[in-house]
This record gives sequence, C-alpha cells and structure tokens, in this order.
Amino acid sequence: MNGHFHGDENSENDDLSSEERMLSARAHDSEYQHEVLLRPLDFSEYIGQKKVVDNINIMVESAKIRNQALDHILLSGPPGLGKTSLAMIIAKRLGSELHVISGPAIEKKGDIAAILTNLTPKDVLFIDEIHRMNIAIEEILYSAMEDFRLDIVIGQGPSARTMQIDVPPFTLIGATTRTGLLSNPLRDRFMAHLHFDFYESSDLVKIVSNNAKKLGITVENIAKEKMAKCARGTPRVANRILRRVRDFSVVMKSDTISEQEVNKALELMDIDDFGLDRMDRKILSVIMEYYSGGPVGIDTLCATLSEERDTIEDVYEPYLLKEGFLLRTSRGRMISEKARDYLSSR
Ligand SMILES: Nc1ncnc2c1ncn2[C@@H]1O[C@H](COP(=O)(O)OP(=O)(O)OP(=O)(O)O)[C@@H](O)[C@H]1O
Ligand SMILES: [Mg+2]
Repeated sequence: MNGHFHGDENSENDDLSSEERMLSARAHDSEYQHEVLLRPLDFSEYIGQKKVVDNINIMVESAKIRNQALDHILLSGPPGLGKTSLAMIIAKRLGSELHVISGPAIEKKGDIAAILTNLTPKDVLFIDEIHRMNIAIEEILYSAMEDFRLDIVIGQGPSARTMQIDVPPFTLIGATTRTGLLSNPLRDRFMAHLHFDFYESSDLVKIVSNNAKKLGITVENIAKEKMAKCARGTPRVANRILRRVRDFSVVMKSDTISEQEVNKALELMDIDDFGLDRMDRKILSVIMEYYSGGPVGIDTLCATLSEERDTIEDVYEPYLLKEGFLLRTSRGRMISEKARDYLSSR
C-alpha cells in the first residue's frame, strides 16, 4: 500500500489552519512552556514505564523494517505520566511528523476529514482526550483507522450518497485518562493498549536529576528523594515541585539545594509527606465529616466538593486509590483505615 514511500526525513508541515485551532488545550497552559524545556527528547531520556516502552520499541522497529505505518496505539493513564512525551518520541524515532489534536476540540466531520486527508504517509496523529470525542467524529475514524479510507455521506434523505476518499496510511496514537470510557468499536481498532502506571520513587529521582541539570541547578541527593517522594508518582508534579524549589534557590542565592529548601517549597505548595495536597485532603475529610467515612456516591461527593466528576475521577482519585486512602465499592467511595489515621493525626 505504501511500499513506494520511503524516506525517513521529516516531511514538510502542510499547515492546516483548522488544526492549529485544535491544538490540544494543554498547549495554552502556562505550564506548557516549561514542559517543552523539560520534555524527554528520546528514549534514552524517557525514564521508567518499562513495559510500555518495551512494547513500543518492538512495534516501532517492526514498522521500520516493514516500511509501513506503525500500528495504532492507545495510551491510557492519569494525567502527567508522559503520554504526550512518549508520542513525540515515537514520531521522532519513526522519522515521521507528529500532529497533535485534542479530541473534544474537533467539532465538525469536515475538520477531521481535512486533517486525515492532509497527512503524509506514516505520519503520527496524536489525539489527546480521545474518550471525549464527539461520536459522529469517532465514526469517521473507524474506517480511516481500519482501511485508510473515509466514508463521507453527502446530502440527505433519498438523494444522499456515500463518497469514499483515501487516507494516507497513518498511525493514530490515542491518549485517554481512562480506557473504560472508550466505546468498544474505537477501542478494538487499536492494535496495542498500553497502560501507564504511577512512577516508582527511584524513577522520579532520575527524572528530577535530569531536569535539575536542564534547569542548571545542583540538588543534594536527599533533596531529590524528598521531591520524588512527594510527587504523587507523577513526573509533571515532580517538575512542578522542582521549579518551585529552583525559585527558592534563586531568591536565597544558594548554589546547592538542600532538603530544607525542598521542605519550604512543599509547605508553600501545601503538599505533605504523603504527597497529598489540599484537594486530596478535602476529598478525604469531606467523606469523613459529611458521610461518616462513606460509602458515598461519586455524584453526591462531587456536588459536595463543587468539583467536576471528571476532575475528581481522573486527577485525584487514582493516586488516593493507589495509596490506599480511598476505596471504591459498589455503593460508592469510602475512606480507608489508613485515611482515618491520617486525618486524625493532622
Ligand atoms: N518517562 C518520563 N521521563 C522523563 N520525564 C517525563 C516522563 N514522563 C513525563 N515526563 C515529564 O513530565 C511532563 C509531563 O508529561 P506529559 O505531558 O507527556 O504527560 P501526559 O501523560 O501527556 O499528561 P496529560 O494526560 O495531562 O496530557 C513532561 O514534560 C516531562 O518533563
Ligand atoms: Mg498530554
């Protein structure tokens, strides 16, 4: 199908104005600028997630040998664990162009059709928050992913007809915070489903070390360990702490960062020794105080907290569940014995 296409160089970027508009919402975060600087540039800088990386390596090498587009890949896991970074590294390794769009930002069928038909063979299309894509858009993806073809219905009623347009063989990398939210037809079209786990503390120490170097600061080992321990298993949080700590070192004019400075930064950020922040504690104490420890239904809980359900389930819950502070039961969320001890010790 794409046997005639060889060439590992990056293809020219044919700018889609619609695509620019749909760049992932994250691109506008103030954090984005910093993340660009601290992003791992290749597999050697990409720490941890060994299972995911091993799978990817094999798939990428195979695609290169076969001289075909890499198979579609679904990446899932809580925010800030490195899904976007990995997609960038994959595209670079393939020598292909990466196009980043955010699922919910694609509004019209024509938009996705334009993006797909403008791809160059073997390009990587990264769709962030793919579980939040409009169903009509999702349906267009089915045939595009499976047969590299678009079925577009033109007109309405009896005069409607289907037009088929070829799409260059491409790779779809979908990112989602929860695979459970993906429809079955979409999920089935991904060759590999790779799940991201929270990082081990030792991996976070390495990430902090590398990024301290990139920021040009020296950090004592014990200070690195403290940052890693409080980063809730998440590189993005580790980076955030590190940048705060850097601010301290700049103001204090100290050339080596000690644990003391880390502790001060953590205190200002309201992060405790378990890596929990104010919102985590609020969730636990609301369940304790308003619902005598639970169980309480997720919707009721979110209403009490005045928070979006998505935010609670994607951003806060995974870590609280993993650390055993929170329990998920058929009747709702409960706090654990560990959480009760934690709350009473504060
Ligand atoms: N494996 C890793 N090795 C080194 N640094 C990492 C790794 N994973 C993530 N990071 C750091 O964390 C930052 C955030 O990662 P990234 O944006 O890739 O997360 P994400 O999973 O796409 O998050 P979201 O779901 O919020 O989009 C990166 O800029 C990078 O500095
Ligand atoms: Mg991302």
